[in-house]
Amino acid sequence: MNETIATILNRRSERCFSPESIPHEKLVTLVELGAAAPSPLNNQPWRFVVIEKRPVIEEIAAAVEAKAGSIADKIDRSARADYADYRRNAVFFNTAGALIVVLLKPMTSEAREHLWGVPGFFENERRARGDLLCIGAACQNILLGAESLGLSACMMLYPLIASEEVRALCAIEPPWEIASFIALGNRTGDRPKPPKRRALERIAKFIGEAE
Ligand SMILES: Cc1cc2nc3c(=O)[nH]c(=O)nc-3n(C[C@H](O)[C@H](O)[C@H](O)COP(=O)(O)O)c2cc1C
Repeated sequence: MNETIATILNRRSERCFSPESIPHEKLVTLVELGAAAPSPLNNQPWRFVVIEKRPVIEEIAAAVEAKAGSIADKIDRSARADYADYRRNAVFFNTAGALIVVLLKPMTSEAREHLWGVPGFFENERRARGDLLCIGAACQNILLGAESLGLSACMMLYPLIASEEVRALCAIEPPWEIASFIALGNRTGDRPKPPKRRALERIAKFIGEAE
């Protein structure tokens, strides 16, 4: 086990934060790590809006809570317990020391258009996913960086419910889309237990394994 493997295995989604602010340099490092991710044709279709001002983070969390509340009545009784979980995991970041809004510029077919047009060449869904895949890699780099710097971090999609409000608060213009959020903070103490992972036999097939 080396340090990189340990960092990957120790990373957890952490949703509790102590109140001290995060040193600005650590946030700069995390953005640099995000930007170091691989991307198709090195097109780097990402931007990172780093919110360090707690009142802005609280405002975003309040917008998410208001949106979640406004649709609560429409939730079918059978789905209410799930919805309560969703609400809890959508707004916990109101105590975060920083919030990174990760933006994605959807990949168009302009790049290498002469190739995209050839019948049989990347005609299926794989063609369109490069942008999302590399955003995922960028987010993971940030999460692993946070782990190595001793910060709590959690990637989130639930706050997307208030994407219009976040766009307005952060002046996010098209073609940029909000891909995800990463809440960050200083640790409070105990770390969450690792959630169960599926057994290797269920998720992997080794072809050519020695007899
Ligand atoms: C794309 C994505 C979206 C997620 N969205 C949320 C979210 O909105 N709220 C939340 O509390 N956790 C969110 N999570 C964290 C997952 O719940 C967490 O990764 C999973 O339970 C496994 O736990 P671990 O990260 O500690 O290994 C998200 C994770 C990913 C990768």
